[in-house]
Amino acid sequence: MSEEKVKSKDELVPIFFMGKCYEVPSSLTIQKALEYAGYQLVRGCGCRGGICGACGTVFRYPDSYKIEVGLACQTVVQPNMYIAQLPFFPGNKATYNIADLEPNGSVFTALYPELYKCIGCGTCTRSCPMDIDVLGYMSKAIRGDIEGVAKGSFDCVMCGLCSGRCPAEEVQFYIAILARRLYALHMQPRSAHLKRAINSAEEGQWTEGIAKLKAMNLDTLKKVYSEREMEPHMGPEDWIPGDTNYVNVD
Ligand code: SF4
Ligand code: SF4
Ligand code: FES
Repeated sequence: MSEEKVKSKDELVPIFFMGKCYEVPSSLTIQKALEYAGYQLVRGCGCRGGICGACGTVFRYPDSYKIEVGLACQTVVQPNMYIAQLPFFPGNKATYNIADLEPNGSVFTALYPELYKCIGCGTCTRSCPMDIDVLGYMSKAIRGDIEGVAKGSFDCVMCGLCSGRCPAEEVQFYIAILARRLYALHMQPRSAHLKRAINSAEEGQWTEGIAKLKAMNLDTLKKVYSEREMEPHMGPEDWIPGDTNYVNVD
């Protein structure tokens, strides 16, 4: 067995926030530890589940030269962390009207010429809490591969941590969202069933049903909701509800 001391769940460890030391349980995330220490988080805190990207946090240890980054809601405290929070990593976003942009391969370098300064170090990939191959999609951006960047960055939560330690001062997440916007606007195949649903809404197929729901009191609404016909958990691919008044079927 390792000689390293195994921390019990309730052991208190020291962390430093804005220079002040707090003793907090070792099992807590940075976010919960700050609340344990008495802070009320009204900014830089959203979903608490690693999805909204609002809780970007910078930290460092006294015995290391590295500046480290992580999401406060996902990173468990370590003894002697020196912590500072940035409610969203600011970045130098290019100004554009997406409707005026052509989906051609030079769009990334035209708006973000610093792309050419990328040295391929991979720090962005190592910083990403979503395990995205950030260097991979940045390489695709240099090559002008809009689809590749859009798909490669699909899980991005826009936390900005990738930019925090980039030696080339890139704004990877803004380049990625530009790709996803261009892909969605110009390249993604149009969805036939979405078009049908929009047409149905515009033709008033659901107007009466929505009016009925709006007229219900809360208890009736809850009853209707809990008794509604639901798709079976292991239903067949072609399952449709018995009442097809409010769905589009071919
Ligand atoms: S951290 Fe910056 S320079 Fe390094 S690979 Fe990522 S984008 Fe390129
Ligand atoms: S690509 Fe960058 S902004 Fe997106 S989730 Fe990863 S670190 Fe955050
Ligand atoms: S609070 Fe949303 S990602 Fe941390």
